[in-house]
Amino acid sequence: MTKRTVRDFDWRGKRALVRVDFNVPFERGTRRISDDVRIREALPTIAYLREQGASVVLCAHLGRPDGKRDANLQLEPVAERLSELLGAPVPYVNDAVGDEARAAAETLEPGGVLLLENVRFWPEEERNDPAFAAALASLADAYVNDAFGTAHRAHASTEGAAHHLPAMAGLLMEKEIAFLGGILESPARPLAALLGGAKVSDKLQVLGRLIGHADELFVGGGMAGTFLKAQGCEIGASLLEENLTGFCAETMERAAAASTPITLPEDVVVAERIEEGAPTEAVPVGAIPPGAMILDIGPRAAERYARRLAAMGSVVWNGPMGVFEVEPFHRGTQAVAEALAASGAVTVIGGGSTAEAVARFGFAERMSHVSTGGGASLEFLEGKELPGVAALDDAEDSRRSAGT
Ligand code: 3PG
Repeated sequence: MTKRTVRDFDWRGKRALVRVDFNVPFERGTRRISDDVRIREALPTIAYLREQGASVVLCAHLGRPDGKRDANLQLEPVAERLSELLGAPVPYVNDAVGDEARAAAETLEPGGVLLLENVRFWPEEERNDPAFAAALASLADAYVNDAFGTAHRAHASTEGAAHHLPAMAGLLMEKEIAFLGGILESPARPLAALLGGAKVSDKLQVLGRLIGHADELFVGGGMAGTFLKAQGCEIGASLLEENLTGFCAETMERAAAASTPITLPEDVVVAERIEEGAPTEAVPVGAIPPGAMILDIGPRAAERYARRLAAMGSVVWNGPMGVFEVEPFHRGTQAVAEALAASGAVTVIGGGSTAEAVARFGFAERMSHVSTGGGASLEFLEGKELPGVAALDDAEDSRRSAGT
């Protein structure tokens, strides 16, 4: 990684402003956190800073409050959970840039940790307002971005604040960039990309980046329907992005010419309703009944994908193979997740619904890396520069300024 990291700074007696991604889900209608992975993934950076003698001012967002205070999106339950995980008090202030925040930050002892209020309560955050970014930065001696999941946003706390202080990546950010960057720069070969999810339109750019780079591409999920249609299959009532059939046909040709063959499912699971226990059928792709929707890859395709993927040097996976949240449309996603978990390949799992699926089936611990970023991991794989990463100091500059 070419960016400065938390290890490249002398933290003794210093205060760190650390942008974390604590945008966690809650049980419906409650303030109980249903998945704390993003909080747990931030612990190594927080622990490192505390060990080095720094005090830690954490800032984060929750949901999309649109620049207004919203009692349901306050970060208090997150502070409570973090405090349990750290085994140390984590005071929380209902403020981010005002007197209360400043007083709380200034009274922190070395090793102390404070969580500021949801930064998106201030409209200046998403506007990347320079004065707001400067006010946040003025709370600390140095800035750390460990919020990989939000690094594709150029907001005041993710981008602007970095320009006012020595700015470096946290340990989670470093790990995310190492694994996702490894897939783009020096993957163990052969490299397979497994793409799924509902829409082709979400994957146009990543397809463009991976064709000619990956050794094989596997397609599943709702997006397979548009590819199959482009190959001349009738796809019944399946999701179809009609305007993209031409793109899919060209992509198949371009991919073959670039030695990145694209594998489509030979069979699919169809039903007329997306409902638990709905009558389903596994059919060859040439025999999809009118009125039926593709809701999963079929058993033959699942078996073939699983076998081929297990033989790869590395696999990057973005997008489930079917509507895995609803049984019995989970089987294709579960089968490929199981094969990846058991394989010797370097397995890099995109965040969002793909991460949710591997966690649901109990395979998250057996993957090489499960990204905490949904949109961010996809943009990274598309080859885009993430503003939250670009704004950090370069490693070389930090070594020069440290006189090494
Ligand atoms: C996420 O959950 O993907 C990140 O926290 C970013 O959230 P956003 O899409 O609301 O910017």
